[in-house]
Amino acid sequence: MTPLSGDSVKHAAQTRLLGNVVHYWEQVDSTNAALGRLLKEGAAGGTVVLADAQTVGKGRVGKPWFSPPGMNLHLSVLLKPAIPVTDAHFYTLIGSLAIADACEFYEVTAQVKWPNDVLVDDKKIGGVLAELRAINGRVDSLILGVGINVNISRNTMNHLYGEAAAGATSLHEALGHTLDRNALAARVLENLERRHFHFLTHGKQPVIAEWRSRSFLGRRVTIHEGDIRVEGIAVNLDAEGCLIVTLDDGSTVHVREGEVFPFH
Ligand code: BTN
Repeated sequence: MTPLSGDSVKHAAQTRLLGNVVHYWEQVDSTNAALGRLLKEGAAGGTVVLADAQTVGKGRVGKPWFSPPGMNLHLSVLLKPAIPVTDAHFYTLIGSLAIADACEFYEVTAQVKWPNDVLVDDKKIGGVLAELRAINGRVDSLILGVGINVNISRNTMNHLYGEAAAGATSLHEALGHTLDRNALAARVLENLERRHFHFLTHGKQPVIAEWRSRSFLGRRVTIHEGDIRVEGIAVNLDAEGCLIVTLDDGSTVHVREGEVFPFH
């Protein structure tokens, strides 16, 4: 299996901003956290952190993101979109669409699941975690972390994830062979860059339209927002990127992505 390498990713990515600087570590606590530290030292927009292993990978809602060393993709990208904080959650949608694009590059059909999951055959193959620094209500810096199950096999998932393995999959499982993670990382960066600039130029509507066309709408969902638990059918995404859920009593709620947290 080709080892991960910052130089390989940098050279393979056909981008003008993302990956101009790539930091690779064999092991970090979390690529998002590492990039947060680089930001404090003055890292430029487009800087990427890539790691073969994370010791404290972060998932959404404070959950850990566990992924064994040497198999999967863990990367984070620093973006500086001049947008209001209230629009920052669009990067969660953009990130999951970019992962879905990368799966489809390898002819693996992927769906997005609100707010930040990517599914293949109804099982989770990847997700994104966006964290931001804001100044006066506007985004100053946004760290977009991407995790994709790449070369982890079904046996290893069953062994390591226990019951959760039933809801997980990998590109290895979908394709039946291993992938070069450097090439995959390059595709993810290209997709993110294209979607990032498209969002800044064309706004929210195209993101919503595309997310709708690649999502699992019409299914039953349970959504936790703090202490609130909402169950119903996910019927649509509204113009602000909120999930519209029809509850069992027939009423409708718009659930806002509440998970673009400030980083520390
Ligand atoms: C989720 O679906 O819960 C989000 C998963 C995000 C995981 C990635 S792995 C790279 C980056 N660094 C982290 O600590 N988390 C994200």
